[in-house]
Amino acid sequence: MEIIISESLKLRPWCEEDKQELQRIANNSNVTKYLRERFPHPYTKNDAERWVSLNIMGLHETHFCIEYNGKPAGGIGIDIQNDIHKYTAEMGYWLGEEYWNKGIVTQCIQTVTPFFINKFQLKRIYATASVGNVASIKALERAGYTFEGTMKNYAHKDGVDLDGTLYAFTK
Ligand SMILES: CC(C)(COP(=O)(O)OP(=O)(O)OC[C@H]1O[C@@H](n2cnc3c(N)ncnc32)[C@H](O)[C@@H]1OP(=O)(O)O)[C@@H](O)C(=O)NCCC(=O)NCCS
Repeated sequence: MEIIISESLKLRPWCEEDKQELQRIANNSNVTKYLRERFPHPYTKNDAERWVSLNIMGLHETHFCIEYNGKPAGGIGIDIQNDIHKYTAEMGYWLGEEYWNKGIVTQCIQTVTPFFINKFQLKRIYATASVGNVASIKALERAGYTFEGTMKNYAHKDGVDLDGTLYAFTK
């Protein structure tokens, strides 16, 4: 499944040919600074291979490669929750640093939100961003997500406790 957003920007599944470029752009501590440890630093060839394999095996239903000017530039996707939260999904996204501040992720959030809500009959997509992650917070706000609150000590990374913001789009 491919979604064309503009001449330069599209969403498509991750594929084998992306491994090298994925490893190059993901292996950057500025990118991983606020991300979960499952998106590690350093980001190795094995990490890239594993991610692409997982997508080929099925994650492509919920995750996209962000392609900008014909090159893999980052990723966006959702994790659908379970049990009584089955109509809820958490969204995550990242971009290689050379692609920041061009409005790319704002457009991707605006595109995937209605797409995933329709595809999986969701009623809520939420995202959390550390209070210091201004670019992420701005992208969520510009994409129409609503601020729902601040979470004290919501994460602990590299020895530091972090406060988080919670944003959601509800149907
Ligand atoms: C967060 C991230 C995905 C944003 O993607 P992006 O395509 O650069 O975002 P956009 O360009 O759509 O929007 C970012 C906005 O924040 C603004 N911004 C960026 N850094 C800023 C700063 N330090 N202070 C104020 N505004 C800032 C940009 O100017 C832009 O707003 P504008 O268009 O009104 O000027 C990208 O920075 C990234 O990949 N970061 C590392 C991974 C990450 O943190 N992912 C999110 C985890 S919650």
